Amino acid sequence: MLLSRAPKGTSDVLPSQIDYWYHTENIIKEVLQVYGYREIRTPAFEHTELFIRGIGEATDIVNKEMFTFQDRKGRNLTLRPEGTAPVVRAFLEHNMGRENPLVKLFYLGNMFRCEKPQAGRYRQFNQFGLEAIGSQSAIIDAEIIQASLAIYQKIGLANLKLIINSVGCRKCRPKYLEVLREYFGDRRELLCNDCRERYDKNPLRILDCKNEKCQLQIKNSPTIFEYLCEDCKNHFQKLRNHLETLEIEYQVNPLLVRGLDYYTKTAFEIISGELGSQNAVGGGGRYDYLVEELGGKHTPAVGFAAGIERIIATMEKQKVEIPSWKGIRVFVAAINPEDYSLALKIIKDIRENGISAEMDFLEKSLKAQMRLANKLNVSYVLIIGGEELKLQKVTLKNMANGEQEIININQIVECVK
Ligand code: HAM
Repeated sequence: MLLSRAPKGTSDVLPSQIDYWYHTENIIKEVLQVYGYREIRTPAFEHTELFIRGIGEATDIVNKEMFTFQDRKGRNLTLRPEGTAPVVRAFLEHNMGRENPLVKLFYLGNMFRCEKPQAGRYRQFNQFGLEAIGSQSAIIDAEIIQASLAIYQKIGLANLKLIINSVGCRKCRPKYLEVLREYFGDRRELLCNDCRERYDKNPLRILDCKNEKCQLQIKNSPTIFEYLCEDCKNHFQKLRNHLETLEIEYQVNPLLVRGLDYYTKTAFEIISGELGSQNAVGGGGRYDYLVEELGGKHTPAVGFAAGIERIIATMEKQKVEIPSWKGIRVFVAAINPEDYSLALKIIKDIRENGISAEMDFLEKSLKAQMRLANKLNVSYVLIIGGEELKLQKVTLKNMANGEQEIININQIVECVK
């Protein structure tokens, strides 16, 4: 049983689903390159410390969800739970900011979080993400949002909502945290166990809690807008103006705080109406101190990442049409076993011309080969062998109308093209 089941929270992408993946991945690469983002591929695991420092000790990801292990020399390593900290690590390691004041990167890859699996929440999942490192301007926040929405649009998803917020900065957030502590301090007994812990570590996290008891208290909690400094207020207003110019619809939700501690100023999520409780198809925001936190000089940055499984689930629910594999076009059937190597040579010639071709690899009878060709729903069958072959000829059968013709062996590619 153990040997024939994938580990909890993981799954296989089967050939029947792969067209969704190709379609989605191709569009992501196409759109992001048009937007000037270049792909970066970082390792599947990093030093554990990178995520502790990067994502934040008080987060669920670092506290409960990391797959951490020791290598043979006792070094602590962690399967990447997200892509932003690794990208910033690579940015610093390769001194990528040296030549370009703004570095625009994207990635596609699997991420690992030891979460309680449910629909839309897995232990191994795939993300695409984009990061723009080097600008503090709200115009790049708007571009990141625009590029993300362009991907969803090109994929064909409808019914998505953009939610934005500002989570403040080092200057103004401490005051807001103080106010939140005061507010929730009187209500601690009414909060869930997790939130009581969050209260001590980072009360902002409480705003993200889905527990009904906590929701009752969160509803009337003070909002961050009253405490944002001038700089954060201006940044947020500029982002809103840019979105309006771009005619991008959005909602402001002051309770949107996101699950990673590196965010400053802009935080945003894209929600699908189709997905139930795990409804975020993507999220991101600004992280102006992360480069510094990981040892670099002050470098403002902003980014976004989206779960590909959730995108595909939305596509399936919305019945988005995708280009699918056309199947095999030509089947080469051999009358005699001694003609199999010639069949293999013929399918190679056909395939080299970009036409899909297949033959029988089980050395079955001609009748069984014709059954297989029917099952594969091919357009043409080439029958080779017998007297015809002695004359360098083969039979070409058109499977749509059943017509057969005898052609020269050196005309095969031309005829099936
Ligand atoms: P995140 O919100 O943790 O942000 O993840 C982004 C997206 O990944 C989510 O909106 C969701 O679609 C998908 N996702 C997350 N966890 C799971 C899971 N367990 N199973 C399936 N899908 C999941 C980040 O990861 C940030 N690095 C985003 C970012 C980039 N911020 C700035 N730059």
